Amino acid sequence: MTSVRFDERVVIVTGAGNGLGKSHALEFARRGAKVVVNDLGGSAFGDGASKSAADLVVDEIIAAGGEAVANYDSVTDGEKIVQSALDNFGRIDVVINNAGILRDKSFIKMTEDDWDLVYQVHVKGAFKVSHAAWPYMREAEYGRLIFTASAAGIYGNFGQANYSMAKLGLHGLSQTLAIEGKKANILVNTIAPIAGSRLTETILPPPLVEQLKPEFVTPLVVKLCDENSHDTGGLYEVGAGWMGQLRWERSKGVGFNLGNGISAEDVNDNWAAITGFDNADHPRSGQEAMMAMMQNLQNR
Ligand code: NAI
Repeated sequence: MTSVRFDERVVIVTGAGNGLGKSHALEFARRGAKVVVNDLGGSAFGDGASKSAADLVVDEIIAAGGEAVANYDSVTDGEKIVQSALDNFGRIDVVINNAGILRDKSFIKMTEDDWDLVYQVHVKGAFKVSHAAWPYMREAEYGRLIFTASAAGIYGNFGQANYSMAKLGLHGLSQTLAIEGKKANILVNTIAPIAGSRLTETILPPPLVEQLKPEFVTPLVVKLCDENSHDTGGLYEVGAGWMGQLRWERSKGVGFNLGNGISAEDVNDNWAAITGFDNADHPRSGQEAMMAMMQNLQNR
């Protein structure tokens, strides 16, 4: 088995002062990467800022013989984080979009600020960092990006309308970047992790927080960023030492005869077939997904 190494590679990990990001940063550094440890050092709710979170992780990497620099910018100033990678290490190979906050509230109590702030940090922040890194990756014909989604985005979760929007938005973004990046060997994948951290310690019981180690998530992130990897456009759930990939499933569906017109009653009469998953498809692209519809244009 060839070992996964990142010698001479430069890796940005956003939100790397705590939790999952810290675990990713330490592991990339242990495997030879030069790491930009980005962290604004605010609270789990997005208030305040401090340099200590990033500094402590950089100290730990350097003490272990690795190479890292701290960066304290918000991901919403993504170009500064990328500039820090270029200034310190001269290139950029991997971006781990990990920084995140919570503003949990039931939808009826959610304010526009709660919505906007979560969007800003998760979606706009990941966009800003990735967009600033993209031209360098294109030029080098090499890049690896990870987006950090959440089960809340995939399945929904009470009190997390803003967070669910942001998290599944990131997966949508990654789908198109995977297509646009393919020719230039830029691979883009999304993880939906679960780990004990300050984001989960308020909702999970302490023994579970203790057991759900971020270190159980990091190996998948590292594997997807390996230079020998080819997988792109994937969405993976990962946590507690378990990991697996998700895909879309679509019912076989019903093609109505266009010559007869289609009424809501026709839809009703065919509901079991429209919603049944026997002989389901798993479309892997927009073109594949559209095929059934295009074929039905002949159905008259
Ligand atoms: P954490 O709170 O331990 O770490 C997040 C880090 O991001 C913090 O150090 C924080 O200072 C930093 N950060 C926040 N806003 C920032 C900004 N604007 N710019 C730069 N850094 C910023 O949380 P955790 O759990 O490690 O979360 C990491 C990612 O994983 C987040 O995107 C989160 O939404 C996601 N996630 C975590 C899950 C879990 O079970 N822990 C579940 C699903 C998703």
